[in-house]
Amino acid sequence: MKNIIISVNNGYYPISINNNFKALINYISEYESSQIFVITDSNVNILHFQALEDTLKKFKLTKFIIPAGEQSKSFQELKNIYNFLIKGNASKKDIIIAFGGGVIGDLVGFAVATFLSGLRLIQVPTSLLSQVDSSVGGKTALNFLSHKNNIGLFYQPIQVFINTSLLTTLPEREFNCGMGEVLVHSILDNSKSLFTLLTEEHERIKARDLIILNELVYLNCNIKRKFVEEDEYEHGKRQSLNLGHTIGHAIESLYNFELKHGECVSLGLVAACYISLQKNILSNEIADKIIKLIELFNLPTYISSLPPYEILDLIQYDKKRNSNINNFILIKDIGEVQIVQIEDLYTEIIPVLLRLQKPYYRSESPINAAKLI
Ligand SMILES: NC(=O)c1ccc[n+]([C@@H]2O[C@H](COP(=O)([O-])OP(=O)(O)OC[C@H]3O[C@@H](n4cnc5c(N)ncnc54)[C@H](O)[C@@H]3O)[C@@H](O)[C@H]2O)c1
Repeated sequence: MKNIIISVNNGYYPISINNNFKALINYISEYESSQIFVITDSNVNILHFQALEDTLKKFKLTKFIIPAGEQSKSFQELKNIYNFLIKGNASKKDIIIAFGGGVIGDLVGFAVATFLSGLRLIQVPTSLLSQVDSSVGGKTALNFLSHKNNIGLFYQPIQVFINTSLLTTLPEREFNCGMGEVLVHSILDNSKSLFTLLTEEHERIKARDLIILNELVYLNCNIKRKFVEEDEYEHGKRQSLNLGHTIGHAIESLYNFELKHGECVSLGLVAACYISLQKNILSNEIADKIIKLIELFNLPTYISSLPPYEILDLIQYDKKRNSNINNFILIKDIGEVQIVQIEDLYTEIIPVLLRLQKPYYRSESPINAAKLI
């Protein structure tokens, strides 16, 4: 078992990384709760709820199941959770466990933060994306009017409990999506240890070797910890975690969530490479290495049906609402990013979006890039 302590404004909380549920019972016993509510999704319920229930058998668990998928990050499901909590007489003495991927983590986090001005939340993430990223740092969100994450707030859990053995049942496409966020972290990490691990151990990662998965999740949570501790509310340094996300979110919204978050982040990362190359701050050699890793994890590097002008509109909407108009996170090297102001989005971003319609070419040979649409 590995532990990371994350310090935030109102105290600190542990992230514990295991390959079983055993230690969870000790944590829950310490919290002295009256009732435990578990909110999960329809897939995770079938695959893993029994194991959680067996571990926590000395407690009475009350469960609520939400349909799996991004569409559930909605006001309708939020209302359903409030109803469930009201029916169960949930109070400040109780614990709510968000048991699922990033959708459950974001939605339940928002519900728990806003119900009775905040209950105690334990994140038990079950997808790779949620174990390496979304369960850590307290960002919660809903999608409204098909805009991604436009309703949300920061609310820290009292604990993140990660059981990496759950990842063995994750469909391959979902596993690869989690690798999209891992790749973002590997570019932000100035120790380069994550990038090295991905380069040297990609076969074991793809085979889901539990020893290497524990290491992978640990390195990612630790990278995220550093950003969250320095800038909990994303006013400065934490914005770097959005590398690849500006264009990624626009693609995700445009395709109405038909593409997965991690796939869109991967396309956004390729776009960030293109802008960085265009600005002469990134070498072809490093761009090749990054795109090689994206390909190794079967993530898309281009999307031929991409409509550049519609994407530009969505980017402008996203930039306005975040009051960071014209700021893009660009790549200088592995472990070195730079926030760059792009004055004329039309002239600088449209060529990048056009380039994103076509496979990536290395200088010496064309690449069999993964084509998505
Ligand atoms: N809060 C943050 O900081 C943050 C960061 C990154 C992404 N996100 C959000 O996370 C969401 C994406 O997360 P996700 O990829 O986990 O999506 P998800 O929650 O939809 O999970 C993906 C799919 O995998 C299934 N699943 C989960 N665990 C499983 C397991 N162990 N075995 C088999 N199937 C399993 C789910 O039922 C679902 O069908 C997006 O909404 C994104 O905006 C949030």
